[in-house]
Amino acid sequence: MIKRGCLKRQPLFFVSQMFLLIFTKKINARVSMAKTKIVFVCKECGAESPKWMGRCSQCGAWNTFVEEEVVSVKPTGGATSFSASNTIKPMRLTDVQVGAVRRTPTANAELDRVLGGGIVPGAIILIGGEPGIGKSTLVLQMALSIPDRKVLYVSGEESAQQIKLRAERIRSATTDNCMVVSDTSIDRLASHIKECSPDIVVVDSIQTMETERVDSLPGSISQIKECTAVLMRMAKENALPIILIGHINKDGQIAGPKILEHMVDVVLQFEGDRNHMYRILRSIKNRFGSTNEIGIFEMLGDGLREVANPSELLLNEFSQSLSGVAIAAAVEGVRPFLIEVQALTSTAAYGTPQRSATGFDLRRLNMLLAVLEKRAGFKLAAKDVFLNIAGGIRVCDPAIDLSVAASILSSNTDMAINQGVCLAGEIGLSGEIRPITRIEQRVGEAAKLGFSQIIVPRFNRISDLKKFNIDVRPVTRLDEAFRLLFA
Ligand code: TYD
Ligand code: MG
Repeated sequence: MIKRGCLKRQPLFFVSQMFLLIFTKKINARVSMAKTKIVFVCKECGAESPKWMGRCSQCGAWNTFVEEEVVSVKPTGGATSFSASNTIKPMRLTDVQVGAVRRTPTANAELDRVLGGGIVPGAIILIGGEPGIGKSTLVLQMALSIPDRKVLYVSGEESAQQIKLRAERIRSATTDNCMVVSDTSIDRLASHIKECSPDIVVVDSIQTMETERVDSLPGSISQIKECTAVLMRMAKENALPIILIGHINKDGQIAGPKILEHMVDVVLQFEGDRNHMYRILRSIKNRFGSTNEIGIFEMLGDGLREVANPSELLLNEFSQSLSGVAIAAAVEGVRPFLIEVQALTSTAAYGTPQRSATGFDLRRLNMLLAVLEKRAGFKLAAKDVFLNIAGGIRVCDPAIDLSVAASILSSNTDMAINQGVCLAGEIGLSGEIRPITRIEQRVGEAAKLGFSQIIVPRFNRISDLKKFNIDVRPVTRLDEAFRLLFA
């Protein structure tokens, strides 16, 4: 009896001992490998804090902190140990072999220009922009007109019927190679891709996507991070280009963690004034091309139209011989175009004069006003100054300084600038006109559009400019330019 009892108990004893052994080993392994920590992350700016806060101390947003698990894996010494055998070896850069990169042109010259010549296989392209600016329209229009390529359009925002209604509006639609699915699960995306084997995938928008691996709401930092990681693996493993649409927050940054922008290959920003028809697609990051490029579009009732000649932005709204208007020969990326700068100065009604700028940096406007006051002797301290770049576009080119200053003076003295004159030049703090880039393209564009005179910095090499059919007037200082304009 006793013996039988022993025999009965013994296997049980062994099994429990085994479990205990495995369990302690697992715990030991976990303790030595990974340590889990809880942090709170701001959804707006990504700031971290060890405890929950109602208001982010960095960006000031309310109720944006979410709990996140940080798993820190202890290094096992692989990276630093010199004895470890390693199959990955450094090689001479000249020995690295690359196949030719096949870029897929998108049948949209402006989009191609910004992408650096087309879509690269396996690239992840993120397009950000304000709500209603036309991101979905841009991408759907591309999907509907790209020749010989199957596009899978995954929308987490609209139903298939809504996408169809939008597609019916777009006139330039030429192909029926576009598959649509209204879904928010990244986990199901792999099966959608397997089902229709597309050449390009569009995800509208990354903030609406979710994966079951992460236990938080769509749009949260960890969801966006994990979904992008999954998409990135999909893209790189299958050399499948993926276009992501991203929301932006109230500061104009793409919503979600900053790491999102680090993970993707290309970041484009679609911007413009919603009250104007013009839209600008800017490249912020591009691993396969220049970030200096911009694409210009016009939002029409039947989709986006490419604007091949940006100077038409200006010529549409050309105001005839009005005071306070100056034409600048600007360059964005490598493209020259002429824009109209409008200024209005008036006597300030209150003690502190107002300064307002649309499409131009307000701090730079204040700097130019100080230069005008101190170096050119114009009394503007008691004046309200309003500045506007026509067409609703934002210009970052410093060469438009000269036309900003000229338009302010023109408004202040109520003397119109001759209609055939345009300007290009950066203004320095001592009132000198500093040299600018791509002078030939600017002068060429002004000549092409029938301007008779262009004022440029003397420090640029002027000898090459004789070939253009335009009177080139080099200037060194601000007052010299004003004498030419208002004499
Ligand atoms: P949409 O692409 O939905 O913007 P986003 O995806 O960035 O939120 O664009 C919405 C706006 O564009 C909407 O206000 C209507 C306008 N629109 C046109 O003017 N013409 C068109 O052909 C289309 C499709 C939209
Ligand atoms: Mg949309």
